[in-house]
Amino acid sequence: MTIWHDIDTYAKKWITEAGERIRTSFKEELTIQSKSNADDLVTNMDKETEQYFISKINETFPAHKILGEEGFGNQLESLEGVIWIIDPIDGTMNFVHQQRNFAISVGVFENGVGKLGYIYDVVHDELYHAIQGEGAFLNEMRIPNLNETALTEAVIGINATWVTENKRINPSVLGPLVKDVRGTRSYGSAALEIAYVVTGRLDAYITMRLSAWDFAAGMVLIEEVGGKLTTLEGNEINLLEENSILVAKNNIHQEILTKYIRK
Ligand code: IPD
Ligand code: CA
Ligand code: CA
Repeated sequence: MTIWHDIDTYAKKWITEAGERIRTSFKEELTIQSKSNADDLVTNMDKETEQYFISKINETFPAHKILGEEGFGNQLESLEGVIWIIDPIDGTMNFVHQQRNFAISVGVFENGVGKLGYIYDVVHDELYHAIQGEGAFLNEMRIPNLNETALTEAVIGINATWVTENKRINPSVLGPLVKDVRGTRSYGSAALEIAYVVTGRLDAYITMRLSAWDFAAGMVLIEEVGGKLTTLEGNEINLLEENSILVAKNNIHQEILTKYIRK
């Protein structure tokens, strides 16, 4: 058993326990606050869940570092060592409004290399998980490698924001892509949308501004099924900054870059 199998056992246990706690919170009253703007929500459960992971990790693996969305972890300036990258609830708006379509997302990296990835769909009790080099799984089921799909038959995850007036991309760039594909979907949880690309439910997912905690777990998972995750320009991700994201099966990734982005 490698050190990663050992860490994997703990990670799964903590994620399952945190999920149980979140499910029981549905009966309780939430404290909801907004962060950077009125649509950027945080609840007591986001904070409590992050603190739960931090106390478990600190107790069990004191040398490991933690990058958490709610800021209870470490302030990181480098990717050296073992780093847990945690989004305690990805899709907080869905958590508050719908009590579904949100996930716990946990990635574990060593010196910038993805080793372990977990996306837990709490309501459906579905854990997408991977250890680098050992394949990706949905609960006990191995997720098969991704096949090619024609762009005209592709269903892509994209938020309408990016094809209407916005601060980050000219809407005329992605408008033609939206027209050419079979359909578009928007679920409101980046982690789940990446998990859907991993399982082939979506053929691609595009967004303009994510932080490491939104996609760290997804990076590990997509690698295991032969897909690709880069910036929208096709560049390597920087985990210490915000990034645009293009995650897709290989042929769709290539086609989106050549036909719509680099044309
Ligand atoms: C958000 C969700 C959303 C994405 C945002 C993220 P949060 O994460 O993943 O789908 O469009 O960019 O910030 O705030 O719910 O953890
Ligand atoms: Ca998030
Ligand atoms: Ca979050």
